[in-house]
Amino acid sequence: MTTTNWSPDSWKNFPINQQPDWPKDPLDQTISKISQLPPLVFAGEIRTLRENLAACERGERFLLQGGDCAEDFSRCNAVPIRETLKVILQMAIVMTYAANKPVVKVGRIAGQYAKPRSKPFETIDGVELPSYRGDSVNGPEPTLDARQPNPDRLLQAYFHSTATLNLLRAYVHGGYADLHKVHVWNKEFLANSPQGRKYEKLASKIDDALSFMEACGLRQLPQLKEVEFFTSHEALILEYEKALTRKDSLTDKWYDCSAHMVWIGDRTRQPDGAHVEFFRGINNPVGLKVGPSMAEDELIKMIDVLNPNNESGRLTLISRFGHDKVRKHLPKLVKRVKKEGRNVLWSCDPMHGNTFTASTGYKTRDFEHIANEIKEFFHIHRENDSIPGGIHFELTGADVTEVKGGAQKIDDHHLQERYLTNCDPRMNCQQSLEMAFQISDLLRS
Ligand code: PEP
Ligand code: CO
Repeated sequence: MTTTNWSPDSWKNFPINQQPDWPKDPLDQTISKISQLPPLVFAGEIRTLRENLAACERGERFLLQGGDCAEDFSRCNAVPIRETLKVILQMAIVMTYAANKPVVKVGRIAGQYAKPRSKPFETIDGVELPSYRGDSVNGPEPTLDARQPNPDRLLQAYFHSTATLNLLRAYVHGGYADLHKVHVWNKEFLANSPQGRKYEKLASKIDDALSFMEACGLRQLPQLKEVEFFTSHEALILEYEKALTRKDSLTDKWYDCSAHMVWIGDRTRQPDGAHVEFFRGINNPVGLKVGPSMAEDELIKMIDVLNPNNESGRLTLISRFGHDKVRKHLPKLVKRVKKEGRNVLWSCDPMHGNTFTASTGYKTRDFEHIANEIKEFFHIHRENDSIPGGIHFELTGADVTEVKGGAQKIDDHHLQERYLTNCDPRMNCQQSLEMAFQISDLLRS
C-alpha cells in the first residue's frame, strides 16, 4: 500500500473526536516513554491475520471476534483471561464443526481499554461527572478525582496489555488450546447447563475423531496442539496508537503494533477526521464499524481511503444496525459494495445496535434481538450473493447477568445479580455458547 503525505503523526492535522482533555506535559512524557517500549505484536503475525481474513472474505474461513466491551485493569488476572479464551475456543470449535471450515479467532482483548462515549458527562446520584472513558483514560469510580484523565493510565494500559497477551500466548502455544482438551474447556459454570451438555456431545465426537486419526498414525499434527489467536481493540486514543506504530524492518511498512487488528468506532469514522487519517497509513487489517448513519456514497469513499488498492484481508466492515434496522440499512450497502467490486470482509456486530435500558434501570441487550440481527445479516448477504464472513461479540467467559434472555431466561430482575461490566452488557459463557450453536445452524444451511 502506498500512502502519500502520511506519517504516524499526520492525523494531528485533522479534526479529532472522543479524545480526553489530557494534561499536556505528563502526556508528552508518557507517550515518549511508550514509544521506546517494545511493540506488543510482530508485523509478521499481523500479516498472517490479514491472510486469514482474506480467506474469510472468500468464504473459506469464518471470523469470530469477541471479548469485553471494556477491559478492566482490576480484572487483569489469570482466571478472567482464561475464561474468555476458553469460551472463544469453545464457540470456535462448535462453529468449525458445523461449517467445516476454520474459524479465525480474534479477541477484543489485551488492549481494549478506551471507550467512546455518547455524552461527555453523566449524572450519578445527582452529581454531574465526566463520563468514564475506559481504564486507559480515567477510572470508573463515581468521583471527580477518578474521572480526571490521567496519562499514566496509558502506560498502565500498555503493561496490562502486555501481561494479558503474555498469558494468552502461553495458553495458546503451551498446551491449553490442544484439541485433546475440548472436554476440559467445558468445566465450571457450563458443565451442567443445557448448552454445556450439548457441547459435551460434540466434544465426544471430536475425541472419537482424534482417536481414529491417531490410530491411523496421525499423532503429532501441530494443528491439533496449538491454535492461532489474535488480538484487537478500538484504536481510539491516537496518541497511544501512534506510540506503538513502528516501521517493520522486513518490509519497511508501518504497522500499529498495539494489536493485530484495530478498528474505527462508529463515532470516530468521519471521512475527513483524524482516525481515518491514522488508519489509512497502517498496514494492519482494519475494521470499520458501520451503523445506521452510514450513507452508501460515504461508505465507498471510506473504502477508497482505507483500502485504495482493493486488497483482500485489509478491511472488515462491521455492521451494527440493530435487529429492527438491519433490513432497512444493510441491503443497499451490500449491493453497492458488490456492484463496485470492492474486496471487503463483512462481519456482524449484533451488540451495539441492540442496547436498551431495562425496567430495572440496567443497560442491557436481549438475546433474541442479538440472534435476530445475526439471522438477518446471514439472509441479506445470501440474498445478494455476498459472503457473511464473520461475527463480533461483547462476551465474557464469566457467569454474569448482563444480557437478558437465553436458555437461563435472565430477566430484568436478574440483571442486578452479577452485573459486572464497566461499560456495555456482555453475553455470559452460556449465552455465548448457545449463540455459537445458533450460528452453526446458519453456517450449515
Ligand atoms: C464498541 O465496539 O465497543 C463500540 C463502542 O462500538 P460502536 O463504535 O460500533 O458503537
Ligand atoms: Co461496547
